Amino acid sequence: MYEQHSITIMMDTKELLEWYLASGVDAICGDKPVQFDNKVQIAAVSATTDSRPAITDLAQMSVTACKNAREICSQASSLEELAAGVEKFDGCALKLTANKTVFGDGNPNAKIILVGEAPGADEDRIGKPFVGRSGQLLDKMLAAIGIDRSQVYITNILMWRPPGNRTPTSAEVAVCLPFLKRKIELINPEIIVALGAPAANALLDAEETISKIRGKWLEYSPLPGKSIPLLPTFHPAYLLRNPAQKSKSWFDMLRLAKKISNN
Ligand code: URA
Repeated sequence: MYEQHSITIMMDTKELLEWYLASGVDAICGDKPVQFDNKVQIAAVSATTDSRPAITDLAQMSVTACKNAREICSQASSLEELAAGVEKFDGCALKLTANKTVFGDGNPNAKIILVGEAPGADEDRIGKPFVGRSGQLLDKMLAAIGIDRSQVYITNILMWRPPGNRTPTSAEVAVCLPFLKRKIELINPEIIVALGAPAANALLDAEETISKIRGKWLEYSPLPGKSIPLLPTFHPAYLLRNPAQKSKSWFDMLRLAKKISNN
């Protein structure tokens, strides 16, 4: 069992905001202003040594969550049913800290599915993938080859924002992966575009760097005997930080356009 402790610490407003930022609280929600009285109540959760779940229990919880995820997926015969199953699913703790579930968006009959890593602050607020700065760049990249959002389906490995945009843990990826795979099965696209190494590696069960695999046509194999061409490319957030790499992405987009015209 976990014990809940309440500690009162005196901080000035600047310190308080810095403390929030350091804790991963980098967005506000709610529209009522809050009066800071320079006191912050920290509800700290700590575990006593005799009551902490054993590592094996945690591993078992993760295995059970993956099993439940797969069961929900096998029972869903449409994206709507899958989304309803996700709403009931409680096997991913990120759901507790996220504002919204970001299931996916776009054309459910799309020939192209784009997969990112996880929702950011804007996506968490709005409930749709790639609606922030990365999304705006993604829209421009697609527009450059004559594609708009109505022609594609966009989703992420994770459906909930990791606090402070931290890197998802492998357990979080594992528990969300069955949902991503079921989405792909239900949409049955001709092409998958993996935005960044995490998306490519999750689907290919690999551990490659994006520089090594970007721009190459790889194969995602959902079932023995079936494969879907998968193109890894730089994540738009990476391109925003490293604009000099945009020329390589342009070649990837041209490769995508060529594949679409040959299909
Ligand atoms: N980055 C992602 O990987 N996905 C989003 O939806 C937004 C930013």
